[in-house]
Amino acid sequence: MKKKSESRRIAASDDIEVSTYLELAKELHGEQPVVEPKAPPGERETIVVLDFGSQYSMLIARRVRECQVYCELVPHDTPWEKIAPLNPRGFILSGGPGSVYDAGAPLPLPYIYESRLPVMGICYGMLAVAYQLGGQVARGPKHEYGHTILYLSDEDCPLFAGLPSSLPVWMSHGDQIMELPPGFKALAYSENSPFAVIGNDSNIYGLQFHPEVVHTTHGKAIFQNFVLQICGCQGSWTPANFISESVDKIRKQVGDGRVVCALSGGVDSAVTATLIDRGVGNKLTCIFINNGLLRRDEPERVLSTFKRNLKMDIVYIDATDRFLERLKGVRDPEKKRQLVGNEFIHIFEEEAAKLGKIDFLAQGTLYPDVIESTCAETKAAVKIKTHHNVGGLPATMNFALIEPLRYLFKDEVREVGLALGLPEDMIWRQPFPGPGLSIRVIGEVTREKLDTLRAGDWILMNEIKKAKLYRQLWQSFAILTDIRSVGVMGDYRTYGYLMAIRAITSEDAMTADWARLPHDLLARISDRIVNEVPNINRVVYDVTSKPPATIEWE
Ligand code: XMP
Repeated sequence: MKKKSESRRIAASDDIEVSTYLELAKELHGEQPVVEPKAPPGERETIVVLDFGSQYSMLIARRVRECQVYCELVPHDTPWEKIAPLNPRGFILSGGPGSVYDAGAPLPLPYIYESRLPVMGICYGMLAVAYQLGGQVARGPKHEYGHTILYLSDEDCPLFAGLPSSLPVWMSHGDQIMELPPGFKALAYSENSPFAVIGNDSNIYGLQFHPEVVHTTHGKAIFQNFVLQICGCQGSWTPANFISESVDKIRKQVGDGRVVCALSGGVDSAVTATLIDRGVGNKLTCIFINNGLLRRDEPERVLSTFKRNLKMDIVYIDATDRFLERLKGVRDPEKKRQLVGNEFIHIFEEEAAKLGKIDFLAQGTLYPDVIESTCAETKAAVKIKTHHNVGGLPATMNFALIEPLRYLFKDEVREVGLALGLPEDMIWRQPFPGPGLSIRVIGEVTREKLDTLRAGDWILMNEIKKAKLYRQLWQSFAILTDIRSVGVMGDYRTYGYLMAIRAITSEDAMTADWARLPHDLLARISDRIVNEVPNINRVVYDVTSKPPATIEWE
C-alpha cells in the first residue's frame, strides 16, 4: 500500500485549494503569526483528548463534538500549562500501538490524576492507566480483533445509562489487564476480556474496546454519558454559539485593521469570509481569482452568491489568459500544479498590493490540518505539501493570519455555513482541486479541450444530481483523456476523444472506493456525452479504487 508520505499530491481533505497555496507560500516564506487567542475564549468547557497514536484519535474528537461539547485532540505529553487555559472538564486517553511495557512507551502525565477530573482511557489508554495505577497488564491468551459482545456487570454505572445489558463492540488489542489496580472494579466483560470496562470511585474509567468506531453501535451513547453526565458538560457547542463567539473574537482581533480573504468557491473559504464579514464587514476585501480552470458556470455562481446574497466587497479577476499562457505546451502534471500555484500567488500578491496596507490574511484552515501539524504521529502528512514549490509571499506582505475555522471539523464547517445562511449548493459542493481542470485534461491544456471537458462534466454533474447521488459521493467528475479512438455515427467514421468518468466514495480522500453507480445512470451519462459533446465518441467508467490509483488522474 502506498504510504501517505510517498504521495506527491497535496493532501487536500477537501476544498482547501486556495488556502493550500497560501499556506505553502507561508511555509516557504517563513511562519506568519496566527492571531489566535491562547485558548478558546471564556468559560467554554473542553474535553481534552490525549493522543497516544491511535488511528482513531481524530474520530474520538469527532464523537465528542457530536455531543455538542468542545474538545481538543492534543499530543499525549502536552504539559498542563497548555491544558489549563482550555478549561478542561475531563480527559479521554486514546488507543495507540505498542505495549505499556515497551521501552519509552507513552504514558499519561501526572496531571491526569492530580486534576481529579473524570478520565476515560480507551484500549491502550485504559492499559496505560491500569499500569500506572498499580494493575498488571500482559499479553492476553488470545488477541481480540473485531466484533465482540460486551456484557454489563454493573448496569447502574453512569457510563452505561440507557444501554442494553449486552451490546456489540469493536475490539482491537493484544495486551489486556490481568490484575486490576487497587480501588478499581470490573464493570463489564466480554468472552475474552474479564475486564472489558473498569472504573473506580474517582470517575476514572477504562474501556478495552473502541466506542468511537461505527461498529460499536452504542458508542455515541457512551460518549454522551461520559461527557454530559460524568464530566458534567452543558453541551453548548452549537453552530449558533460558535458564530457569536467567533464574530466577537474577530472584532477584537481586527480592531481597526484590514483583512483580505481569497475565495475559491468552496465551503471553507466561503464560511471564513462570511464570518469575517459578520464581524468587520467594511474592513474585509475578498479576492476571487478566476484561473480559467473552473467548471462551467462556477465563477458566475460564486460571484453572484457573494455579491447578491452576502453583499460583500469582492475583487474579481478573470486571469484565464494568464493561466492558459503559462500552461501552454505543459504536459507534466506536477509542472501544471506548480505553474498554477505560482501564478495564483503572483496575482494574489499584485491584487493585495493594490489594496494598500493589509493587516490580516483570512484562511479557511480546518482542525484536521491543525491536528496534522501538532500531533507528532502525523507530521509526515505536512511534508507532503512541501513537494509543491509555489514560491513565497513577498516580505512586504506582512500579514497576520486569521483562521476562524481552525478548531472545526468539515461537517461542523458545513453546519456553521448553513446557520450563516449560505446556499446549500455551496455548502455541499464536492471537493475541487486547486489546479482545477488543468489536471483533468490529460496532457496539454488548451481552451478547446477545457470547453470539451466542461461540457462533459456538466452533463455528468446534472445526471448525478438528478439521481440524488451528489451528496453521497465524495467526488464525481469527468476527465478528458489524450486518447482518440474510432467510432461510427450515422454512416460516418469518427475519430474522437475518449472521456472518462470518475465517481468515488471516501471519508477523507486518503483512501477511496469507486462508486457502484447504477448501470442505467452510466448509460444515460454516456449517451448524453457522446451525443451532446462534440469530439467525444467514447466514454469509459473508472473502476479503480485508491490505492492503488489516486482520485485525480494526474
Ligand atoms: P488524489 O488524486 O491525490 O486526490 O487521490 C486526493 C484529493 O485531493 C484533491 N487534489 C488536490 N487538491 N491541489 C488541491 O487543492 C492539488 O494539487 C490536488 N490534487 C488532488 C483531489 O481532488 C482529491 O479530493
